[in-house]
Amino acid sequence: MTINHQEIELIDSFEQIAVEIHPTAKEGSKAVAAEIAALIRQKQTAGEPCVLGLATGSTPKYLYAELVRLHKEEGLSFKNVVTFNLDEYYPIEPDALQSYNRFMKEQLFNHIDIPESQYHIPDGTLPKEKMKAYCEEYERKIEAAGGLDVQIPGIGNNGHIGFNEPGSSINSHTRLITLDNSTRLANAYDFPNMSQVPRLAITMGISTILKAKKVILLAWGSHKAKIVRRSVEGHSSDQVPASLLQQHPNTKFVIDEQAAHDLTRNKEPWLTGDCEWTPALIRKAVTGLALKLNKAILMLTDKDYNENGLNDW
Ligand code: PGA
Repeated sequence: MTINHQEIELIDSFEQIAVEIHPTAKEGSKAVAAEIAALIRQKQTAGEPCVLGLATGSTPKYLYAELVRLHKEEGLSFKNVVTFNLDEYYPIEPDALQSYNRFMKEQLFNHIDIPESQYHIPDGTLPKEKMKAYCEEYERKIEAAGGLDVQIPGIGNNGHIGFNEPGSSINSHTRLITLDNSTRLANAYDFPNMSQVPRLAITMGISTILKAKKVILLAWGSHKAKIVRRSVEGHSSDQVPASLLQQHPNTKFVIDEQAAHDLTRNKEPWLTGDCEWTPALIRKAVTGLALKLNKAILMLTDKDYNENGLNDW
């Protein structure tokens, strides 16, 4: 039998990051919005600013819609909120259709009472020779604001957080980065054609993200299931930047059931040592084993069952 070492690595380690699973993206987003609202209010009572690290893309849209609703219908004020966005394309004009600057205004800032001077989105218009100093200044501003209380990234299909593509060092700071082709392809839907997707972006670094007091990563949908499993259960490696969050003491993934599909607790719960054998689960385990070993069910041997964690019935 060929042993798939990659599989064994994943299965051996299981979940290295806290995972909160909600039935749908909307429900998960509401729960996170409630958590953020509670923190904003707590900071208001203490007379302190609440510093948030924010993301763009399809993932946080429900979260922002819920924060806007909390502002409009439940009087949640953002006057003490200071925000720093994770990333922006480079180069890009702030009012371009695809700019994250524009996205943030349309999805959130135009609808709440945050003062304009308190939100920060990387500037995609500066000349390249000014970028290094600009990025250093971005880091300094985060620190001057008191550091990020919560950072809320999404996750790319290649495991990127912000635009920290695979290979980004755990020590990386805010900087200009070359986008992966896979990222340009994933984001091409927003542009007239692939050639117009910028090749560069400004992103907070991994170390910037890891300095946040708390990180809440959001992931929705079955297309995120594999990378969620790899990030939560695989080895922490810069080849999967989100897996570096395993090294942060206060991180959780808030995901929907579809994005949780590949976690061992769902896919092979018998391996977690904590499962109720039902006829349906037995069928799932046996057919899964047959597929994995490429054998007919009746050809599976005791050894096959034993070697794959199916020896306890
Ligand atoms: P998405 O992107 O929210 O559009 O899925 C996430 C990301 O690339 O970080």
